[in-house]
Amino acid sequence: MILTISAYGSPVLRKETVDIDKEYPQLQELIKNMFDTMTFAEGVGLAAPQVGLPIRLFVIDLSPLADDKPEYKNYKKVFINPEIIEFSGNDVSFEEGCLSIPNVHEKVVRKDKVLINYFDENFTEHEETFSGYPARVIQHEYDHLEGNLFIDKISGIRKQLIKGKLNNITSGRANCKYKIKTK
Ligand code: NI
Repeated sequence: MILTISAYGSPVLRKETVDIDKEYPQLQELIKNMFDTMTFAEGVGLAAPQVGLPIRLFVIDLSPLADDKPEYKNYKKVFINPEIIEFSGNDVSFEEGCLSIPNVHEKVVRKDKVLINYFDENFTEHEETFSGYPARVIQHEYDHLEGNLFIDKISGIRKQLIKGKLNNITSGRANCKYKIKTK
């Protein structure tokens, strides 16, 4: 099922998120719906607050990039109750977008590497280091669980320049192919 995406202006995007356990109602269905929604909206990551749920869960799917990078074929992962333990490596600047902020793309500086502890969809615990593009997507999605958005990290000048686009989103005038809500 394709879910409605909570867009910029939705209070849930700024809420504190909570850990979940195996008994979380219809967890496997929720994960499947999140993947379906992300694929439909052509994203590479989606966090639970973006579908209206203030819980610590996000999914990533890098397979849309497999044409250029074959190693991302079937690169689908579920992160439950994640905690980033360490950020390391160089600062890297790269353009990002977000399904909750349609039509906005800005360069964001992030660390190249993260060490993260998380549970997968079977509640198996992992402690793993990611670098490069996966590390970027993971940091972006992790930020969602902390109530942060990528545009929080851009300069005041850049933010001024995208103000019109942000107003379009909050006033429901954003043009995108998937369903969004801002309440
Ligand atoms: Ni996002």
